[in-house]
Amino acid sequence: MPVPTSTWRLIALLSLCFILYTHLPSTHPSTPTPSPRAPTTPPLPLPESSSTTTTTSSPRIPHKIWQTWHTPTHLLNATDTSRLTTWLTLNPSYRHELLTDTSAATYIQHHYLSSPSAELREIGSVYTQLTDRILKADFLRYLILYASGGIYTDLDTSCLFPIHQWAHPSKFSMDDAGVVLGIESDREPVENDWRLYRDYRARIWGFNNWTIASAARHPLMLAVIRAVAKNLRGLAEGKGKGLGELGDVFYKEVIDSTGPRAFTDAVVGFVAGWDEANGNGAKKEGRGEEGVYKQVGLLEKSKMVAGDVLVLPIRAMSVLEADRNDGEGARSLGVESVVRHWSEGTWKADHFVIYGEKPEGWKGAEVVKGID
Ligand SMILES: *[C@@H]1O[C@H](CO)[C@@H](O)[C@H](O)[C@H]1NC(C)=O
Ligand SMILES: *[C@@H]1O[C@H](CO)[C@@H](O)[C@H](O)[C@H]1NC(C)=O
Repeated sequence: MPVPTSTWRLIALLSLCFILYTHLPSTHPSTPTPSPRAPTTPPLPLPESSSTTTTTSSPRIPHKIWQTWHTPTHLLNATDTSRLTTWLTLNPSYRHELLTDTSAATYIQHHYLSSPSAELREIGSVYTQLTDRILKADFLRYLILYASGGIYTDLDTSCLFPIHQWAHPSKFSMDDAGVVLGIESDREPVENDWRLYRDYRARIWGFNNWTIASAARHPLMLAVIRAVAKNLRGLAEGKGKGLGELGDVFYKEVIDSTGPRAFTDAVVGFVAGWDEANGNGAKKEGRGEEGVYKQVGLLEKSKMVAGDVLVLPIRAMSVLEADRNDGEGARSLGVESVVRHWSEGTWKADHFVIYGEKPEGWKGAEVVKGID
């Protein structure tokens, strides 16, 4: 017996209702759509415990190049634009983002001040309270690398070699690394006194701050942002000032609280802790800071320390230092120069120095002598 047309119509109508119900965006109360104000990325996990152990399965370094400046990319002058172009041309698979003072504030708001972790909110608030632009610029790069990961590089750098080949030639690959660091200076300390690395201007060794690569939420970067926030609070307390009143800071105070000295100290502390936790301290290199210096001082080839921290020898990022005339220290002639740092350092002219010697072109306040 044929089905009446009215029944077919009813079936068709019910089917249509069913299709619409299952395919249109749901307004069912049991599946609420997120409020438009909800964060679009998952919140950062809480900082890891004080354990400094990493494993080789830690996340890889994202293919993202970060820079920071006071103005956006389209306002950069010809020199800066040509340097930026080297990064984009040699690394076509990498994304690039330049944070301005204003967009950095939004970034810190999103990744730190809104974090579920009280410690990250506190660290972010140290950054937000700062007004000195150099302290802020130094701190920001570490905060970006911890929260997002990628390659941070100063505007006064050029890329000379594709990032994915930076470990070449060595048995390591960039894909093995959770952090990649370059050496700024590694002159052999006088009388082999490894402690002299603490003296920034004399004979030093240390990691450079102009180009740093890291996986997101790497425990080394967590150690760095913790240390820098602590240094800044200590600097302000020592002067009896608020973080926002840190104006006339000395050159050495910048270097020690947020700059390469602070960075190197935090990295050395992290690697020494990792060695201790992983039983490396008993090896011939020795324990603590001295053991770290013995692993990465005077490097001629790339070296992996603390599980996944790849240290490139001095020529990779400091070719002028590697080729200096006095012939001290490592030269690492066998490795590529991967980054050129043009050492603009304009900020030094408005920060006092304490070494009793005027930097070239000094137009700032009178040099303060004999304080150290
Ligand atoms: C380009 O801008 C940078 C940063 O502001 C500055 O240091 C440099 O002197 C400028 N170069 C020229 C050629 O204007
Ligand atoms: C990073 O440290 C170097 C000193 O090695 C300094 O010249 C440079 O200006 C620093 N960068 C910033 C943004 O402070």
